[in-house]
Formats: sequence, C-alpha cells, structure tokens
Amino acid sequence: MPCQTNIELENLLKEAKQYTKMGKVADYIPALSKANPDDLSIAIYYPDGKYVFAGNIEEKITLQSISKVLTLALALIQRGEEFVFSKVGYEPTGDPFNSIVKLEISNPSKPLNPMINAGALAVTHMIEGHSVEERLSNILSFIQLLTGSEDIHYSKEVAQSEFETSHLNRSLCYFMKQHGIIDENVEELLDLYTKQCAIEVNCLDLARIGIVFALGGIDPITKERVMPEYVARLCKTFMVTCGMYNASGEFAVRVGIPAKSGVSGGILGAVPNRFGIGISGPALDDKGNSVAGVKLLEMLAEKYSLSMF
Ligand code: DON
Repeated sequence: MPCQTNIELENLLKEAKQYTKMGKVADYIPALSKANPDDLSIAIYYPDGKYVFAGNIEEKITLQSISKVLTLALALIQRGEEFVFSKVGYEPTGDPFNSIVKLEISNPSKPLNPMINAGALAVTHMIEGHSVEERLSNILSFIQLLTGSEDIHYSKEVAQSEFETSHLNRSLCYFMKQHGIIDENVEELLDLYTKQCAIEVNCLDLARIGIVFALGGIDPITKERVMPEYVARLCKTFMVTCGMYNASGEFAVRVGIPAKSGVSGGILGAVPNRFGIGISGPALDDKGNSVAGVKLLEMLAEKYSLSMF
C-alpha cells in the first residue's frame, strides 16, 4: 500500500511544490484570484476508511468543474441514462472547457460531453427541484453523502463573483435554449450553476469522494451503496476521457487514473478499488489544471504504478 507514512507523501509534496512557480491562479472569476499560488496539499483515502495527507488539510477551495462529475452522477440517479444522454453526448472535444465552437458545428446541436461547460450547464438544468434553493439543497445533500460530512456549504462571494462575470456561460445557455437542450430561465440556471461551482471542500473531502467512485459507489465507512455501480463507472469513464479537459490524453498517458480538475486548483482522483485522491493547488497550467497537482500525481503514478492501462 503506498504512502504508509506521511513523511513519504510530504517528500513528494515538497518536490512537486516547486512547480507551483510555473502556474498562475485563475482570475477570470475575480474572487478566485485571491488564492495563494504557493499552496499545495494532498490526501489519500483508503477503502478501509484510513487516510494520509500532506500540506494544509484545512485549506478550502471551491469545487468549480469538479462539481460537474457530481451533478452528472446526481442527474443520472434522478433522471436515468437515457434522458441524460438525450441532451448531452459522450465524446471528448479537444477544445478548452468553455469553448462554444463545437456547439454550433455539431448536429444535433447538443454539447459533446458533460465535462465541458455547455454539457455541465445542460446537466445542472436536469437536477430536480421546484426552485434554485431546492435544487441546490439536493446537490449539497448529495455531496454531504459522498464526503460523509454535514459541513458542506458554498461560498457566496465566489458564486456572486462568477455570476456577475460569466457572460460566456450565459451565451452557451442561450444557444442551448434556442436549440431545445434547456428550457428554463437562463439567469436561474446560472444562479444554480455558479453556486454549485462555489461549493467549498478541502483535499480530504475530495479524497473521500474519490474513494466512493473508486469503490464503484460504495461508502468506505458505512459500506452502503450511495450510487448505482453503473453511475460510478460512467462518471469514471468521463473522468478518463474528458476530466482534465484538453489535457486528458496526456494525463491518461502520464498518470492513467480517472480524475477531474477545477479552475480553483482542485483535483479529484479515483484509483479503481485502491484509493481516492484529493489535491488542492491553485496555481494552474495553461489548460486550467493544477500544475503542481498534476506533477504530484505523475510522481505518485510512477512510484506506485497507479496507471490502469
Ligand atoms: O464555468 C466555469 O467557468 C467555472 N465555474 C468552472 C470551470 C472549471 O473549473 C474548468 N476547469 N478546469
């Protein structure tokens, strides 16, 4: 079992931390620019409920795009596979996460996958509830279930900051409304989506979510099933093909595990049947992935043969 001691993990973290200098924190959502670019922390969660960590485990980041895999799981549970994939496709795009280009040239005009912004907005549109508050509460309850923690909330500051500035996401929504992919009020959908993206977690929460996916939907503590096996499998497949955006191919070669990143610098990893990994490292590379976080995963993958391939 890897990393039995924290010292071992701390040494790897120290080495990877040098790479934070090569990245920049996201600033297109103004509130995210306040993050400390030098931060890096990691937690690894085992199937028996034990975990190890290095760095500041208390440091919270917002989920951002990591939330997309969680709303996908919830939408699949609530609506079923057939309905979800009538509105969103299965294919990687090779384009940046917020790109609009494929929406117009695809026929039918539905987002190519649930991990790009257009696809994630279409999935959030499917979350059940009579109001934004009720739908957000459904998302928060699901994340509380996955993390085993009641202490899951969203940052009003980050949500507001994204809501005020996400004109590109607004345009994706209006395009999809025109083409019948969504049919709700765009401001309400953006209100829900920006709050979902602003849900705060630390790297241990991410590792705890990762182990549930790694165990095919089973909670490591209660041993109860918290999502159907096919939902966990489907989410892990999207994590492999599109989880690291247009760096997913290189990540699959160098690391080889299902993972999902967010522009806050978080990475959620699931090593099938072995462990969940959570990383927080706000300095990003040019594709929007945590630069030191990806390095750290490369080191771990090489040292402990993590690759599934
Ligand atoms: O929609 C957005 O732009 C953000 N709330 C999430 C983007 C994101 O995290 C992409 N990640 N690499």
